[in-house]
Amino acid sequence: MNQPLICMTLTGRTLEEDVNLVKKYEKQVDIVELRVDCLSEDEQFYARRFPTMIQLPCILTIRRDIDGGKFTGGEFSRTNLFARALAFANEDKSRNFAFVDFEDDYHIPSIQDTAMAFGIKIIRSTHVMNPVEVNIKGRYEKMRKTGYEIPKIAFTPRSLDDVTSLFSQSREITDYEHILCAMGPEGLPSRILAAFSNSFLTYVSPNETIDCMKDIGHIDMLTLTNIYRFKNISKKTKLFGITGWPLIKTLSPKIHNAGYQKHNIDAVYIPIRTPDISKALNFCDRMKVNGLSVTIPHKESVLYYLGEQSPEVVQIGACNTIVKNGDKWCGYNTDATGFQRALEEFIGSEKIKRRKVAVIGAGGAAKAVVYALKQMGAKVCIFNRTEEHAQQLADRYGFNYCKLDTHCIEKLDEYSSLIIQTTSVGMNSEDKSSNELDPIFFYKFRGDEMVFDLIYTPSTTPLMLRASKKGCRTCNGYKMLEYQAYEQFKLFTGKEY
Ligand code: ATR
Repeated sequence: MNQPLICMTLTGRTLEEDVNLVKKYEKQVDIVELRVDCLSEDEQFYARRFPTMIQLPCILTIRRDIDGGKFTGGEFSRTNLFARALAFANEDKSRNFAFVDFEDDYHIPSIQDTAMAFGIKIIRSTHVMNPVEVNIKGRYEKMRKTGYEIPKIAFTPRSLDDVTSLFSQSREITDYEHILCAMGPEGLPSRILAAFSNSFLTYVSPNETIDCMKDIGHIDMLTLTNIYRFKNISKKTKLFGITGWPLIKTLSPKIHNAGYQKHNIDAVYIPIRTPDISKALNFCDRMKVNGLSVTIPHKESVLYYLGEQSPEVVQIGACNTIVKNGDKWCGYNTDATGFQRALEEFIGSEKIKRRKVAVIGAGGAAKAVVYALKQMGAKVCIFNRTEEHAQQLADRYGFNYCKLDTHCIEKLDEYSSLIIQTTSVGMNSEDKSSNELDPIFFYKFRGDEMVFDLIYTPSTTPLMLRASKKGCRTCNGYKMLEYQAYEQFKLFTGKEY
């Protein structure tokens, strides 16, 4: 099968808006889809001009609202629009639509015959709501009434297992063109790895309009081409990734994929989003993913699935990296070394040995931090919302602990020369003043504290902002992220980043 095409979906209100987007991205895109249902009513009548206004092949789509589109008129008016767009087709094929998208239940022979007479191929599409029962090959063959039709299945996965199932079925179909795409956050691998499912194309949005398509899982043009280097992905490409939930924003794909590019390694690193770690591992086993970064909330639950654990994982009790060795997963923890390197850089000539350090939080990230601080000889007090969790962690290393609430101020003061924030409080926050986004909102900074927050989005958390306003030195988690990723890169590829 050929390399999948990149199809950019155009959802502008006017043809001119869409033409401008095509001009901007025409070097990276192979084909565009004109979503006539998104055009204003006046513009819809002129859709047939569109192929003459651009230099790329174009798919004509008029998506009904019941199928997730914007067309609210009845089927009679939709047929009229199809007729207007197709019936005046040109002898010169390059001036016509190259494809038209008809839903599986849309059969108007005159329109279909017109399309075929002018060499306009038909994409026969369906939206599957209950993917678990789908036998893809059977479904494709039913949809494909003539060899002239390309069957397309878009589906809403109820979990990553649906993506795994349909994706593996689709890999087997090599004798005709077909399109598979999974919607929503769990569906992203189906869009990046279209080469693995033999999909004829993958849909992307221009960066200008991605916001209104994100809910259905569209990926933006620049991310697909620059970060995932979609055109270089083939069935031989080695797969790596990151699993977590909700994993809304992650910089790890950017770091790892840049490393593969730099070292000329045929590999790609993708987000595998799921609230259930076992489903991520199922995807990896079926798709032959060789290594995975593991993040919130799976760093502890993944331990159950490991065939082997590094000494750090055993000691820390959390794992952020797994590598496939034969048929078992081996677990590593690169957070501790990543944190130590970033912390040493941050504090410069200051000493950690015997210094009193406050750690906020007692979850998976805190476990790696506390382990590293023990190696560095610090005296730690762990502050946590649930006191019991703080106690359990502190007891392992002979450290102090305290319940994190307004009564802990005195204790926090005692350990405040270096404060390390490890909870997710303040992550992805836009409103930077709310107390809910600052886990120690009740603590008043003197100005000589050093504050290290493991969060990196936003780059300045509400806590860091409040501290730096008082003159404190602050550091976010970006360097730690980078350093732990470099270690992972070495475990995945055997090469120094
Ligand atoms: P991670 O693996 O990234 O550390 P986690 O294991 O879910 O994530 O740990 C989350 C940490 O953030 C925990 O220490 C949690 O406190 P509890 O032990 O009381 O659950 C802390 N945390 C989460 N939300 C919090 C909040 N709103 N206020 C204070 N602490 C919070």
